[in-house]
Amino acid sequence: MPKVIYDCDPGHDDAVALLLAWGNPDIELLGVSTVAGNQTLEKVTNNARALARVAGISGVPFAAGADRPLLGPQLIPEEIHGDSGLDGPQLPAPGVELDPRHAVNLIADLVREHAPGEITLVPTGALTNIALFARMYPELIQRVGGITLMGGGHHSGNMTPAAEFNILADPEAARIVFEAAWPITMVGLDVTHQVLAVPERLAQLQGVGTDVSQFVAELIEFFGQAYMQERGYPGPPMHDPLAMAAVADPSVLRTVAADIYVETQGDYARGQTIVDFRTTWDDGEPARLGVRDAQEGTPRHRVAMDVDREKFWTLLVDALERIGNTNFA
Ligand code: RIB
Ligand code: CA
Repeated sequence: MPKVIYDCDPGHDDAVALLLAWGNPDIELLGVSTVAGNQTLEKVTNNARALARVAGISGVPFAAGADRPLLGPQLIPEEIHGDSGLDGPQLPAPGVELDPRHAVNLIADLVREHAPGEITLVPTGALTNIALFARMYPELIQRVGGITLMGGGHHSGNMTPAAEFNILADPEAARIVFEAAWPITMVGLDVTHQVLAVPERLAQLQGVGTDVSQFVAELIEFFGQAYMQERGYPGPPMHDPLAMAAVADPSVLRTVAADIYVETQGDYARGQTIVDFRTTWDDGEPARLGVRDAQEGTPRHRVAMDVDREKFWTLLVDALERIGNTNFA
């Protein structure tokens, strides 16, 4: 059973990912941390605490983290997530008290309290907290089983032609994270853009018929209008829930092992995740001859290439059915 620490910037899709984590029977949610990204730290943290009430989450610490990127300018995509960061549905009052620890210290404590390799970090916002963790507690990096993150992409960005938002929001942090000695599965735009909450999927979610599924539908309706207006999409991509679904059931994605680099310089390339397909390995065999031969071992990271859409939607509907009504309003 994957033990998950969820680092997020709710954010409409972060909210759905949190519900999937809480409702999925195979995920044990150990903690939730917030990072500035889709909105200010204060707003995303308030949103996370309110989502705890929507989901009926109890016994899980919520801690706030970094309120800005390590070095670059703060980017807030208000056009996508709105002034609150979670525009659309009426949010309930916070459902949990905030843990007094900084997010990085909560993550460190949870990693120390669990056996090496047990914990999967799932970041779906800027990687600032994860980078700070790596710098403050380098001795704990090896205790982390792995990272499954929503971010990047191997062929295109969304904020710029090259850069996806979570990476561009803090490229220096992303570089620190990808260069640290833990294995990362990058769930990028290449696959998240294949999972759009189009009207028939929205109807599928509403068919669950609970107050929580109705809340999700209202989130998706707002998120969808923003994506239609800003990017002409027929439905909003399920970015963050797909990363969380991949932790619950890795078979939802096809991934290949590859070296991944983060560009921090360049007028056009800053925030790009560069995947070295010259040494791409599929199922442990070199898919193509590259500069690395078998003696050097396979690359540490993996990049998502394809998604089983039906499997994803089934996981999400199942999680909402398991949560049921929480009477949060
Ligand atoms: O580019 C999409 C990512 O940026 C998602 O995680 C969304 O929530 C925003 O954080
Ligand atoms: Ca996010």
